[in-house]
Amino acid sequence: MAESRTIGVFGAGWVGLVTGGCFAELGHEVIVRDVVPDRIAALQAGQLPFHEPDLPEVLARNRERIRYTLDADELAEADTLFICVQTPPTYSGDADLSFVWSALDDLPRGERRQILVMKSTVPVGTGDKVRAALEGRGLANVGYVSNPEFLAEGTAVRDFMRPDRIVIGAFDQQDAASVEALYGGIEAPVVRTDIASAEMIKLAANAFLSTRISFINEIANVCELVGADVESVAQGVGLDHRLGPHFFRAGVGWGGSCFGKDVSALKQLAGNSGYHFQLLAAVIEVNELQKRRVISKLEKHLGRLRGKTIAVLGLAFKPNTDDLRDAPSLVIASRLLAEGAAVRTWDPVADARDRLQGAVQCETVLEAVTGADAAVIVTEWDELQGLASAQVRDAMARPLIIDGRNLLDPEETRRAGFAYEGIGRQSSAFEGLPETPEPVTG
Ligand code: UGA
Repeated sequence: MAESRTIGVFGAGWVGLVTGGCFAELGHEVIVRDVVPDRIAALQAGQLPFHEPDLPEVLARNRERIRYTLDADELAEADTLFICVQTPPTYSGDADLSFVWSALDDLPRGERRQILVMKSTVPVGTGDKVRAALEGRGLANVGYVSNPEFLAEGTAVRDFMRPDRIVIGAFDQQDAASVEALYGGIEAPVVRTDIASAEMIKLAANAFLSTRISFINEIANVCELVGADVESVAQGVGLDHRLGPHFFRAGVGWGGSCFGKDVSALKQLAGNSGYHFQLLAAVIEVNELQKRRVISKLEKHLGRLRGKTIAVLGLAFKPNTDDLRDAPSLVIASRLLAEGAAVRTWDPVADARDRLQGAVQCETVLEAVTGADAAVIVTEWDELQGLASAQVRDAMARPLIIDGRNLLDPEETRRAGFAYEGIGRQSSAFEGLPETPEPVTG
């Protein structure tokens, strides 16, 4: 167990609350500061502003050790301050660091020597800029450490408590040791390095995960043309211990608030430094095209989409989150609307009504598929595993499923009386309804 210390967190967003909650779980006192009064009031009342499994329980269990405040001066008590603010992309594709700079402006000025720890994902070189900014503000005694997060939405608490590694980049090895000690109780390899390398590890990890997905998506597209099945191919390739099975699921492309932003930021960073990162340019382009392939798959079965009704099943960028940022569903549904199709959407938690004007958001899967000419699985929610049922088939105008996540068994789906089209698998046309036994009459 770690020796209990007091930690300050700038930003009560997803990273800040997971970080604060998990450090409290490790026994530390945590002060979370945000600038949005409603958010702080909600947290003080025990309400979480987003959906993340296990986090409500962690925050509730450690209520006594976590304090939420608007007042940055309260962070003067902390010996370590984690920066967990957003770094959205700017128009140029660089990262917008204005939230980081305002956190610096709000740093409490006390006698105690504090260490500032960057958890937010930032461009390589940010550490040097922050160091210079601290010195410019007369805060040369504040330490600086880069400790990037590798939390995935939906599993963030587990990712924090059981990480694959902890990365700590520092100017000063004592500061690195001090931050490492906060993780006492967590079993994981620790990578101690310089600041620029720590910043690069985060960007390179997300860029490589995205590259793997774009790679398997291109393999899937070729599989369709040559009669191979990408699921078997991914399994056979992934069993090579040098390659591994993870992030090798073909589908409608990656989304979320991190991959797109971080891949672009790394490509941009390379470009600004005089290097053209060709591979990442292709990774991004493959992903954009992958989302749009759903449209041609629908056209293959239905012809022109004008006047057709399409059910878009799953809106969140992945299951177990309500996050719609960069979600493939938004591109797919918008393209369908642009083609003149009627779009009916369903998701168990995400609400896209304000982003998809003209689409009808339904409460249930059955409601969404009723009268539809096709159902497209965009997010692999568990609820969709039973989609190929007689009830769904009978409710649809045409029994066609486009399985954008290869969630269903193609053979079973075909036997249940659907035309089926996955990603990187052989498709099947509608073969008529399965034979049902004659009812026994008296
Ligand atoms: C990602 C990384 O996985 C985290 O390690 C990282 O910390 C985080 O970004 C971040 O930078 O903060 P996240 O965006 O929450 O996490 O979601 P992922 O589970 O990585 O999924 C991203 C997208 O890739 C989803 O749309 C998912 O459907 C897609 N995906 C994932 C595939 O299409 N195929 C796969 O095999 C895996």
